Order: sequence, then structure tokens, then C-alpha cells
Amino acid sequence: MLNRPAHEQRAASPAMTDERYLDVVAVRKSFKGVTVMDGMNFRVARGELVSLLGPSGCGKTTLLRIVAGLMQADDGSVILAGRNISSLPPHKRNISVVFQNYALFPHLSVAENVAFGLRARGMSKADAVQPVREALALVRMQDFADRSIGGLSGGQQQRIAVARALVVRPDLLLLDEPFSALDRKLRETMQVELKSLLRDRGITGIFVTHDQEEAMGVSDRIAVMNAGRIEQFADPSTLYASPATPFVMDFVGLSTRLSGRVTGQEGARVVVETALGTLRAPGGLATGTPVLIGVRPELIRLEGGAGMNRVDLVLEDVAILGSKTMLQGRPDGGDRLLCELAGIRNGKARGDAISFHWAVEDTLIYDASAEVTT
Ligand SMILES: Nc1ncnc2c1ncn2[C@@H]1O[C@H](COP(=O)(O)OP(=O)(O)OP(=O)(O)O)[C@@H](O)[C@H]1O
Ligand SMILES: [Mg+2]
Repeated sequence: MLNRPAHEQRAASPAMTDERYLDVVAVRKSFKGVTVMDGMNFRVARGELVSLLGPSGCGKTTLLRIVAGLMQADDGSVILAGRNISSLPPHKRNISVVFQNYALFPHLSVAENVAFGLRARGMSKADAVQPVREALALVRMQDFADRSIGGLSGGQQQRIAVARALVVRPDLLLLDEPFSALDRKLRETMQVELKSLLRDRGITGIFVTHDQEEAMGVSDRIAVMNAGRIEQFADPSTLYASPATPFVMDFVGLSTRLSGRVTGQEGARVVVETALGTLRAPGGLATGTPVLIGVRPELIRLEGGAGMNRVDLVLEDVAILGSKTMLQGRPDGGDRLLCELAGIRNGKARGDAISFHWAVEDTLIYDASAEVTT
């Protein structure tokens, strides 16, 4: 039949069904009467690599532990591949976890640690040799198979923990800041490798970090968490270009923030009065609304054009960072304005009087009367 209702057609498409591969529904959790999660909803598609990004204490580890079954939610459910796993013990969920502190078995060798999950599932020692070797090669630790855990550096232990988690081919891989002990170079290598590894094998992963660059580098989508809630869940470019809240704008990338008040509307633009003059932003808000204006530093130019926003200031700091230079001013000791220029030869110095210009379309605007203080 050709004219099936739309919802049936969608249900028949595997891609749409997979949107709910992991479905965390209305999860609540409190510790000794203090609520840390109040109706969390979180949905991951099959094969996706999703990051949980947020400040310390916002509930990232708690969410992972509830998904893995290492902690019971007070209310709500966890569905994996259409199965309600809320009351299953951790070892029946086929979910692998790489913990913040990697939790390896100190009395077992590297190879025995990696083989552990396979052996626990009843695989013979001989059959485990090849998958263990492959898993160790993935994390570039193939030469360490017979070493003891105690003789490894923190970074090496972290890679063994990743190998141990992957070798069992989990339905879901949870990683809680797996690379935090690694030096920058190894960390970047591991990020790239983890991403392609999961993609090649079609493994669905949730990656916890509070490093926004790491989250943007590895993830298909990022859930920005704040105080037990998801403020925005989107792909890295949407998150960066269109942050849904001031918290997300601040947490993902640098920005300039200016406070103001709406004084009028010009078509699809809001006119805002700030301490530094009149600015315009896309959208519509009632006159009198207190607002927060934001702009990303790399969208600011030193020369303007008709119809662009403009702020005059004296440079207070010029920071040369190699591939880029950050210009900073704090007019009247108030809001900090940031401009990022490519390269280092721009002839600007502290004390220069200059103007920052940016397109109205690049201006972010938030209703400050609705802003939740964080
Ligand atoms: N077992 C526990 N008993 C009491 N409070 C807890 C417990 N576990 C977590 N919490 C509290 O719940 C909140 C969320 O903690 P969680 O460990 O999930 O944060 P996180 O986002 O992982 O932080 P971090 O980035 O520091 O690892 C915190 O306020 C924490 O103090
Ligand atoms: Mg944590």
C-alpha cells in the first residue's frame, strides 16, 4: 500500500527506529535528599558518538553510572535497543565502561586484563588470544601484553582500560574522561583513533569530558549539561554557532557578553541599548526586555561597513598565541570584549584606540529576564 500514514512509514525506517537506540527517560536521582537529576531525558542513535560536556558536579558520571547499572535511579527508565534494562544488573547489560580512574586489576597482566571480559563470557584462553592482540594493537600497546599493570604509566593504563572495554564488542561504550591523564599529543592521537575505531565498528559511545575542544573533536553530537539538566544537545557546529542559552555560549568557546535593554524593533531585528552604544541583533523581543548580547571573537573585524554593529574601545591586552592573536578591551572597566585575528602581524598594541565591528546576523541575543542564574 502506497499511502500509509506518515508515522507508520517512519517506524518502518531503520534509521528512525535507531534514533532511540539508547533512551534515558525521565530519570531522577537524589543523594541524601539533594536532587542532582530531576527528570533527565537523553536519547542516542545507534552508531553515534555523543559527548556529555559540563562543569564538575553537573551529573555526567551519575548519568553514566545509571546507564551502566552501577547506580539505581530513583525514578525513570533506561531503554537500550528497545529493551528496558532499568532493573538489569550491570553484567547483563553488555555495556562497557572506561572509568575516570580506569580500575584495572593490579594482580593480572596487561593481556589478562584485556581478556577478562571475554573469559567472563566463557571464551577459552586460546580463543581470546587473537581479539586481545587486536584490541591491544588498537591502543598501540601490543608490545606490553605480558607486562604487569603496576609497571605501566597512567597513560598506558588508560589505553589498556580502553582496550579492555572494546574487546567484548559492547552494545554501548561509556567513557568517563578516558584521556584526562594523557599528555596533549597522545590525547589528540587517542581522540582521533577512538572516533574512527567506534565508527568502523559501528559501536555507540558516550564520552564524558569537561574539555570543550575534546568534545567538539570527537563527537557527532554534544549534550551540554548544567546542574543535572541538558541545556542543549546538538552537533558541534550548531552548538557553537547557535548556542541555545548563555551558559552554552560561555561553556562552548569564547565570547564577548554585553548587557542591554531592548528599545525597539526594525523588521526582523531587535534594537538594543547598551553601555557601549546601540547594537542590533536578529529576532524579536518586547521593548524593555533586559537582554544579553554575545558575539564570537573570530567574527569581529577591525574595519566595519554599513549596517554592522560597532563598539569603540581602548585595547587593554594583546595576546599573541601563535596561529592567532587575541585583542581584549574592557571599556569603562565593564564587559570584556574579545577579538580574534589570524596570525600575529596585525600591528596592534595595548593602549590603541580601535573599533570592533561585526555583522548583525552574527550577534547572539538572549532574554536575560529568563536567564537562570548558574
Ligand atoms: N555517591 C554520592 N553521594 C552523594 N552525592 C553524590 C554521589 N555521587 C555524586 N554525588 C553528587 O552528585 C552531583 C553530580 O556528581 P557527578 O559525579 O555525576 O558529577 P560529574 O559531572 O561527573 O563531575 P566531575 O566532572 O567532577 O567528574 C555532585 O553534586 C556530587 O557531589
Ligand atoms: Mg565525573
